[in-house]
Amino acid sequence: MKQQVRSPYLNDFEIERFQSNLIDWYKENHRKLPWRKTRDPYKIWVSEVMLQQTRVDTVIPYFNHFIDQFPTLRSLAEADEEKVLKAWEGLGYYSRIRNLQTAVKEVCENYNGQVPNTSKEISKLKGVGPYTAGAILSIAYNVPAPAVDGNVMRVLSRILFIKEDIAKAKTRTIFEEAASEMISISDPSSFNQALMELGALICTPKSPACLICPVQHYCRAFSEGLQNELPIKKKKLKIKEIDIGAIILRNKQGQYLIHKRPNEGLLANLWEFPNTPLLKRGKGSKEEIARFLEKEWGIQAKIGDYISNLDHVFSHLKWNIQIFEGELLSSFESNERTKLVTLEEMEAYPFPVSHQKIRKLAIEVVKETP
Ligand code: ADE
Repeated sequence: MKQQVRSPYLNDFEIERFQSNLIDWYKENHRKLPWRKTRDPYKIWVSEVMLQQTRVDTVIPYFNHFIDQFPTLRSLAEADEEKVLKAWEGLGYYSRIRNLQTAVKEVCENYNGQVPNTSKEISKLKGVGPYTAGAILSIAYNVPAPAVDGNVMRVLSRILFIKEDIAKAKTRTIFEEAASEMISISDPSSFNQALMELGALICTPKSPACLICPVQHYCRAFSEGLQNELPIKKKKLKIKEIDIGAIILRNKQGQYLIHKRPNEGLLANLWEFPNTPLLKRGKGSKEEIARFLEKEWGIQAKIGDYISNLDHVFSHLKWNIQIFEGELLSSFESNERTKLVTLEEMEAYPFPVSHQKIRKLAIEVVKETP
C-alpha cells in the first residue's frame, strides 16, 4: 500500500463538507452522457481515452459508434487494425487508439479479459497513465484513486490556491497528493466525476461561474478574487512549422494514388495523398512534387493547378500544406502501402483530418471537371 502523503494545501480545509456539497451538486446536475449509463470498465476506458484531448460534444457520436462496432473488450482485441483506425478517424492523436488496442489484447492474454482493478496492474497496460488508471478504477470499480487531468488541475488550483506551473509534468504530483486526500472513500466515482463536471460546467477556463458554484464557500482563489489568474500555465516554446506539397493525383480511369504512412511515428498507418516537405514555399513547389513522385515511386505525372492551402496544427507541429491536382501519366501497380483507388473505394480507408479535407477537395475538383 502506498504511503499517503499529507498535502500542505489541505491544512484547515473542511474535506468532508466539501465532499458532500460537491457530490450532492453532481447528483442533481450532471450531464447524462452515454458512458455514464454503464459501469463496464471497458466502456469507461474507451470513453476516457477518447476524452483525452477531445471535447465531450465531439466524443459522444464517436463513442456510440465505436461501442456499437466493438461492444466488448474482446471484440476490440480481435478487430482488424484498419477498421479500428477507421472508427477513430477524425478524433486525432491516433497513438491513443493503437495503445488502447494493444492494451486490451494484454488484458485478454494476462487477465482473462477482465480489466484489472488495482492501480499496480492497470498502470502496467499500454497507454494507461495515472489519470486514466484513476478514472477507470474510481468510475468502474469505486476504488478511491485520484484522476487528475488538466481540468481537475484548474479546479483544484483555484479551490486550494495552488500557484505551481501546470505546464510542468512534475506539478501533477502535487495535485494528485491533494486529490488523494480529498477523495470520498464512500463514493470515489461521483467525487472524481464531480470534479470533472465542475471543471466543464462551472469552473471553466475563462469567466468561471463562481456565483453559482456549489463549492464557492471553500474556494480560496474566489475569496481572494484571483480565480481568473489561476491556474498558472507558462507558455511552451513556439511550435515547429513545416511547408508541405500534396497532390491529388488521378489517372485516366478516375483512380487516385494514396499511400499508407509508416507504421511508427506521427499518424502511423493512416492513409494520405502523396506529399513531401518543401524546401521553398510558392515557386518551385510543382517541380519538387514531380521530383518526389519520380524518386519515391518512379512515376511520371503532370502537375496541374494549385488548388488550395491547408493548415493543420498538432500539439508540437504545424503543417502548411499546399495542395495541387495532377494527372498520373505512367501505369502503376497497387501494393500493400500505395494504392490506386476510386473516390468511393477511398471511403473505407482511415485518413487523418488534414487528408480527409484533401479527399473532400478531390470530390469538388471532380465535380468541376467537365
Ligand atoms: N472528461 C474526462 N473524463 C470525463 C468524463 N468521464 N465525463 C465527462 N468529461 C470527462
